[in-house]
Amino acid sequence: MKKIIFIVFITVFVFPCFSQERTQADIDLKVKTFFQKHGGWYDMNVPASDGQLLYNLILDNKYQQALEIGTSTGHSGIWMAWALSKTGGILITIEIDKSRHEEALANFKEAGVDHIIDARLDNAHELVPKLKGPFDFVFSDADKGWYQNYFEAVDPKLKVGGCYATHNVSDRGGNRWNQDYLHYLQGLDHYETSVDNSGGGMAISYKKAEK
Ligand SMILES: C[S@@+](CC[C@H](N)C(=O)[O-])C[C@H]1O[C@@H](n2cnc3c(N)ncnc32)[C@H](O)[C@@H]1O
Repeated sequence: MKKIIFIVFITVFVFPCFSQERTQADIDLKVKTFFQKHGGWYDMNVPASDGQLLYNLILDNKYQQALEIGTSTGHSGIWMAWALSKTGGILITIEIDKSRHEEALANFKEAGVDHIIDARLDNAHELVPKLKGPFDFVFSDADKGWYQNYFEAVDPKLKVGGCYATHNVSDRGGNRWNQDYLHYLQGLDHYETSVDNSGGGMAISYKKAEK
């Protein structure tokens, strides 16, 4: 009897303390709890509907090598990392602002997805061209005036079949940079671009072939 009690004690109380493994159920619960607790996002973060869109794009296409340009405090990063926890992938995300980067790190930890995210504090203008890749999913959401430069730097590192999503792009008019950038994307023969206007506007560009 003593032996059985000892085994039950070890299994139920001691072993879980040493186990570092996070099950999918643990991650699902932590992310959902995090989103319930942090309802409002005020740091230029995507709306939840765009977070869901990013999550679906990754999960539906089983993407595994993701890059985000513009972390802010991590809302979109958590959605993407949640999907990547199910595909076995990882996310590199870049933020130039130290305080937002640090807040994002804390948020990733609290949401239980920090082990999936490589968060860099850096200027994406300099870092993106240096990243080796390859990537199969990219989310571009930093400085809009640099969107085309980011795209051109990442295109050679994006796999055929991969997807390049750009935030705050609408096909319902808008300002000059928005229209110029969208025309640029739509003019690329090796990409198929559509726009989802359900949230903040998302250009979704699938790579069909190498240039
Ligand atoms: C719209 S916010 C990103 C929101 C985030 N994707 C989300 O939904 O949670 C844009 C972020 O890009 C960052 N940013 C702007 N220029 C940058 C640069 N050159 N390198 C890295 N980050 C930059 C800003 O500091 C800002 O936090």
